[in-house]
Amino acid sequence: MNGCTASALLFHHAARRSGRVRGCRSDEELRGISLILLAAGFDTTANTLALGTFALLRNPAQLAALRADPALTDRAVEELLRYLSVAKTFMRTALEDVELGGQTIKAGTTVILSYNTANRDPERFTDPHVLDIQRQDGGHLAFGHGIHQCLGQQLARVEMRVAFPALLSRFPTLRLAVPAEEVVLRPETADIYGVKSLPVAWDA
Ligand code: HEM
Repeated sequence: MNGCTASALLFHHAARRSGRVRGCRSDEELRGISLILLAAGFDTTANTLALGTFALLRNPAQLAALRADPALTDRAVEELLRYLSVAKTFMRTALEDVELGGQTIKAGTTVILSYNTANRDPERFTDPHVLDIQRQDGGHLAFGHGIHQCLGQQLARVEMRVAFPALLSRFPTLRLAVPAEEVVLRPETADIYGVKSLPVAWDA
């Protein structure tokens, strides 16, 4: 049984037990839902963790501040989400004419939302290109906004609030094993941004 089938069956089983399966028509539909949850839930979080580790290793003062005060973890996770914005762009099609920022978006027009650009907006964030884990101006859009806002955002937060402190305490001497310029990043056109691999070293 592969992961997709397993999660579909789990979901189906849970839904049947909770009596909430009436709207679902087929196993295929449930498999699709499970696949979306796995794709949306794994690549995003895995890349935020890897790219976030890279960002911290490239910003030793920020890394030192986080190591010195683990109480900064929640704020650091929000800042990494803003700064990295691995889920960058999504599309919307206007169902009716919409006025936005002095522009008319005609019904039927498809627009691209750029969450990563919004998260680096200098009118919203002070020094937006700086990673500052003590940043006070929160309210990023890394999980989107509105009715399609990320379904798994609280799970993602929990994963990162556990993983970053665990990584830093388990590997106190963690460092890049290659110069930062040699770390290979995913192309900017990738659906989810991240590192292709992150070579690291530590003292045993
Ligand atoms: C760092 C981790 C994550 C990031 C940055 C992220 C980002 C996003 C963003 C920006 C959207 C909005 C898409 C839009 O505007 O159309 C979204 C939607 C979604 N996310 Fe996440 N996500 C993360 C983790 C997760 C996890 C852990 C799950 C599930 C286990 C998940 C499931 C979903 C689903 C199902 C949607 C679609 C919601 C809808 O269209 O109504 N995500 N995510």
